[in-house]
Formats: sequence, structure tokens, C-alpha cells
Amino acid sequence: MAEKKIKAEKPTGKLGILLPGMGAVATTFIAGVHAVNKKISTPIGSLTQMGRMRIGRRDKDVVSKPLISEVVPLQNLKNIVFGGWDIYEDNVYEAAMNAEVLDQNLLKKLKPSLSKIKPMKAVFDKNYVKKLDGKHIKRGKNKMKLAEALMRDISQFKKENNCDRLVMVWCGSTEIYIKESAVHKTIKSFEKGLEENHKDIPPSMIYAYAAIKMGIPYANGAPNLSCDIPALVKLAKETGTPIAGKDFKTGQTLMKTILAPGLKARALGIEGWFSTNILGNRDGEVLDDPDNFKTKEVSKLGVLEQILEPDVHPELYKDLYHKVRINYYPPRGDAKEGWDNIDIRGWLNYPMQIKIDFLCRDSILAAPIVLDLAIFLDLAKRSGMHGIQEWLGFYLKSPQALPGLHPEHDIFKQLEKLENTLRYIAGEKLIDHLGQDYES
Ligand SMILES: NC(=O)c1ccc[n+]([C@@H]2O[C@H](COP(=O)([O-])OP(=O)(O)OC[C@H]3O[C@@H](n4cnc5c(N)ncnc54)[C@H](O)[C@@H]3O)[C@@H](O)[C@H]2O)c1
Repeated sequence: MAEKKIKAEKPTGKLGILLPGMGAVATTFIAGVHAVNKKISTPIGSLTQMGRMRIGRRDKDVVSKPLISEVVPLQNLKNIVFGGWDIYEDNVYEAAMNAEVLDQNLLKKLKPSLSKIKPMKAVFDKNYVKKLDGKHIKRGKNKMKLAEALMRDISQFKKENNCDRLVMVWCGSTEIYIKESAVHKTIKSFEKGLEENHKDIPPSMIYAYAAIKMGIPYANGAPNLSCDIPALVKLAKETGTPIAGKDFKTGQTLMKTILAPGLKARALGIEGWFSTNILGNRDGEVLDDPDNFKTKEVSKLGVLEQILEPDVHPELYKDLYHKVRINYYPPRGDAKEGWDNIDIRGWLNYPMQIKIDFLCRDSILAAPIVLDLAIFLDLAKRSGMHGIQEWLGFYLKSPQALPGLHPEHDIFKQLEKLENTLRYIAGEKLIDHLGQDYES
């Protein structure tokens, strides 16, 4: 792989970022980029804007840690426009005010530009998100017609905003749990399913299909399958489209994928990991429905199993009891609280406990992820990469892996893969941390 040469084309013109779902995360992201461009705030949490990485040797006098944006050609924030769809008509300023994530004084300073961004009519079906009931939705004879309507929206947006390239990041609500089935297997069966309104094709898959069919990179920030089905993976290969999913890795799972690899690295046993959350935003309300929560639960539960590998280390993790709860608690709004109780075992099987109480802000943690996924997917496209972008699993709770491979959840391995992919794109030497070349 390291020998194969690829070259990223330089970004020219405007990049359009399209967001199905313009709620708390999407509006916090858009407002944030506007605030950064106006120089009234800082893009903390975004690697594409603030991250540095090592290039070359580690010698004291030559060590080089340039900004990632100096290593690979990334789209400049100043040259980005935003569009999207929602089932409510509120413009981005109104939706951001309703979401109550960002300070009203900050939003007022951005009002002229944010008010101009209005959502297009959504493809929506209440059967997949029972708690919501918007009226700003498209009508169509079948799901294929709805996909075509989305493609027309996309072409019109591109033309009106004079965009050179587009990317799409799903920021819509979590849909009910759907298992992969026969309709998802091939492009043919999927397209037939669209024509026949198959029940296993929820709106998020219709957006994903529209984007991928047009060669527009697509990332999925929610845990529903969306582009994580063989038919859309194949379509992505055919149309030369990079894709990534699923589910932004933000609060509790971020902590889990930081801590669990560390405990495992020191051969400490884990007997139980109980995680519970309270949150009161619209996402919390949607997840209050058992069918929607099931989708999130599956996404959150896979993480520990994959990191700890109980089959490989039965003495340490065979009896692991892992439980995840999410409780809708309106007073907290977006300011979620996530508690973890971890029962661990040390030398001679002596028990110990770790408690985490993370008072986080859901959308503040998610917004930089939306930005980085969009910017890196655009880089991937310009570099001729297509299909599943495993290196972007760094940002995701339930990373999509290449067929036949286990997904990698350990955040440190994910970071190494991300950095080496960037070195590879930049034509720099990969770093394997072996260190033999320093021996005299
Ligand atoms: N904030 C986080 O930390 C975090 C982490 C991981 C995943 N997520 C996921 O990101 C997504 C967005 O989160 P949020 O807090 O912004 O939720 P939100 O409820 O504030 O926003 C979601 C928006 O999507 C809209 N929507 C629903 N179905 C749609 C459709 N078919 N087409 C267009 N719009 C649609 C809703 O009307 C709503 O405005 C959720 O699925 C959530 O589970 C969030």
C-alpha cells in the first residue's frame, strides 16, 4: 500500500456542505464556522483547523510538527457554503436559537448570515422517527421519486451557490432500528426497493443514495444504517465516492475508547461497565422512544466488545457486564451528563472502581466532528479515494469497516491510521514507531 502513489488535487472554488437535519448539531456547526471566519471564536476540537502531526524523524533538533492543513491541501473555511434539509421551516438562526446550545449574544452577531440559510423540504416518514411531526416535507409517488427530488435539490444548490464540489453529512434524527436485509444487498435490489417503497429503506438511505449516486462524499453522524449496507458501498465504489459512518463519537463513547484501551494495555481486568446519561435536547426526546433507542444502544454497545476482545482475553474480560442507558431529562437541554461506573480487577483479582462524571455538551463535541468529516471526505475525493474510508473511523462510534474486517475502536490506533493516511496522501514517509533507524 505504501508504494502506491496518490496525489491530492488542490482545492479550487467553493465547497458546499449539505446537511440533512438542521437541528442542534448542524446549527452549532454552521454558526461555529461563521464565528471562526469572523474571528470571534476558535475552532477547538477540530483537527483540520488546529491539529498538528509529526512528519519525519524524532531527533530533537529536526522534529517537525506542522499543522495538518500544512501537510495536506484542505479546503479553506472561508470558501465553504452550507445547505440542508429539515422537516421544520426554521432558518439556521431560528433553529440555533431554539436549540439553546450557543450563547444568544454570539448568535445575534451572526444573525444576518445565519438567517439566510433555509432548509429545503425534507424526505421524511414518521414511521422511522415517531416523536417528530414536521410539515416541511416532500411528497413523492415512491422512494425513487423522492431520491430524484433530492438530486434536483442538490444540483440546484450547487448551481445557485456556484460550488465547485459538495459533501453531505447526515445530522438528522436517529431512525428506528433496522437490520440489514435482502433489499440492501445489491444496487439492483436496492433500486427496486426504492421503486416499490420497501419498508427497510428509511429516509437516511434515500439521502445517502442520492448523494452517492451523484458522486458526492457522504458521512453518517447517526447510528442508523444509512450508507452502511452492501448496495450503497458498491454504489460508492462504482461512482468513485468516499463514504464514512456511523454515529459521531462524542461524550461517553469518546471517554470509553480513550480509557478501555489504556486499561487493556496494562492487562487490567474489567468486570462491569455501567453507563447512564441524562439529556434534554430533541435528540434525547427522539431517543426516548424504545425503537429509536435500540439503534443507539447497538451502536454504543459494540465498542467495548471490540476493544477488549473477551474471546482472546477470557481471564480478563469474559464476564464483562456492559449496560448503557439514556434518559430524557428536559431541564438539562443539550448539556448532557454521562456517568460511568467501571468495576475493574487488579493483581491477584483484587477489585477496584473508577467513576466518571462527564458534564459535557453534546453539540459542542459533535460540531468539530462534522467539520473534520466534511473536510477530510473532500480531501479523500480529491485524492481519488472511494468506498469506505476506515481512517475516518476516528470520529465515529460504530465505524464502518471494509467487508470481512473488524472495525477498529481504539482511539489511539484510529489516530495512527488517520495520521498515516494523511502522510500517505501527502507522499510523506509513514511512521511505524519502530525506532530502529535511531540505533547507531
Ligand atoms: N450531539 C452528539 O453528541 C451526537 C453524537 C452522536 C450522534 N448524534 C446524532 O446526530 C444527530 C443530530 O443530533 P442533534 O442533537 O442535532 O438532534 P436534533 O434533534 O437537534 O436535530 C436533528 C434534526 O433532524 C431533523 N430531521 C429528522 N429527520 C429528518 C429527515 N428525514 N430529513 C431532514 N431532517 C430530518 C429534525 O427535524 C431535527 O431538526 C442525531 O441522530 C444524533 O443521535 C449526535
